[in-house]
Amino acid sequence: MLAVEFDPADPAFIAEPYAHLDALREAAPVVYDERLDRYFVTRHVDVRGCLRDRRLGRQFRQLGTEDEFNAEPLDPRWQAFWDVERWSLLFLEPPDHTRIRKLVASAFTPRAVEGMRHSAESLANELLDDCLARGRFDLLYDFAQPYSIALICELLGVPAERHRDLLDWSHRHVKMYEFDTTEEQARSAAAAAAEFRQYVVELIEERRRVPRDDLVTALARARVDGTSLSDDEIVSTVVVLLNAGHEATVNTLGNGVAGLMRHRDEWRRLVDGEVPAAAASEELIRWDPPLQLFERWVLEHGVEIAGSPVPRGAVVAMLFGAANRDPRVFADPARLDLGRTNAAAHVGFGGGIHVCIGAPLARIELEASLRALGERAPRLELAAEPVRTDAFVIRGYRSVELAAA
Ligand code: HEM
Repeated sequence: MLAVEFDPADPAFIAEPYAHLDALREAAPVVYDERLDRYFVTRHVDVRGCLRDRRLGRQFRQLGTEDEFNAEPLDPRWQAFWDVERWSLLFLEPPDHTRIRKLVASAFTPRAVEGMRHSAESLANELLDDCLARGRFDLLYDFAQPYSIALICELLGVPAERHRDLLDWSHRHVKMYEFDTTEEQARSAAAAAAEFRQYVVELIEERRRVPRDDLVTALARARVDGTSLSDDEIVSTVVVLLNAGHEATVNTLGNGVAGLMRHRDEWRRLVDGEVPAAAASEELIRWDPPLQLFERWVLEHGVEIAGSPVPRGAVVAMLFGAANRDPRVFADPARLDLGRTNAAAHVGFGGGIHVCIGAPLARIELEASLRALGERAPRLELAAEPVRTDAFVIRGYRSVELAAA
């Protein structure tokens, strides 16, 4: 197996990761990085395989101790953060994962999500009215963030006046998912988690007193096989839905629209209606995914990935950006091609038991906003060079300044 060093925190890598990811993928399907002590999986077939492999899991504590898995104990200084993560779907394995996911799915129904389409379309147009009236605007701050957070809040039943708090908590929270999180970032994430938790606990109490037709009420009442969710489980679930419910969608819009502004022919295909907005969304997720990496623990002995043995207790990191540009699956993969017929074969929404539960909502949001942008602002252009955030795992821009010429 190839041993390679790469530095996901290097600003040059973050600015343009794909040449490096391409080189890794073509060098080997599995690459061990000693400094990060991780097995990086680079090719589409193997990333898909890992996502579905039940011998790999998001969590090991149901099977063994931290010593056995060679894992750092959870730092007690950030306990408020671990408490909120404790019952997050993203960090559970069966049987808890199966139980909670079933309960969430029973409240997060396709009908409830489809019912959001109208809100998604009218909100996109409302926000664009303001942006276009100003002429110059930040796609992330003025459009994508308020848009996505309002929709997930509407579904959950979280009042609109706390949107900016939620964004702030969420941005601080997700810094813990990066490599090399600093102590300052961890402290800030734990403080944000404590405030977030307090807020959700009060919301649950309120909905128990006065039930409404919303997801928080539904989670508080949901019953599957005679069980219901505990308060801690509801808190983690609401927090993961709120965080996951906007971070990736906002960054897909930022990455995607910035890409389209630099590929005017592709933008024209969207504006002219040659490619439907729904198909364009899939290609944008493939071409510059907002989530570049997800990890799994190896839970059993004897696991091999692409023929390479990977020991029990090891961490496997799946590189979505590398898999989504695998020439074995996507012809001319570096090209942004909105009409690509197999774009939806991307791994952007994951797969297996943790497959994105919010994908149907994300697709509605992306379709409605790309359609509105194309129809209402066909001459849109970049007003300034967009600047990347300093994060690799959650890939996005700080701002995408646009002018509606
Ligand atoms: C373009 C937007 C989105 C992308 C690219 C995305 C991507 C993903 C991916 C890759 C996973 C799997 C993680 C893993 O395998 O470990 C995931 C899980 C998840 N997503 Fe999304 N997501 C998006 C939008 C959303 C939205 C809008 C919501 C909420 C409404 C959401 C909620 C979740 C939740 C709760 C999970 C955890 C599921 C589980 O572990 O069972 N996501 N997402």
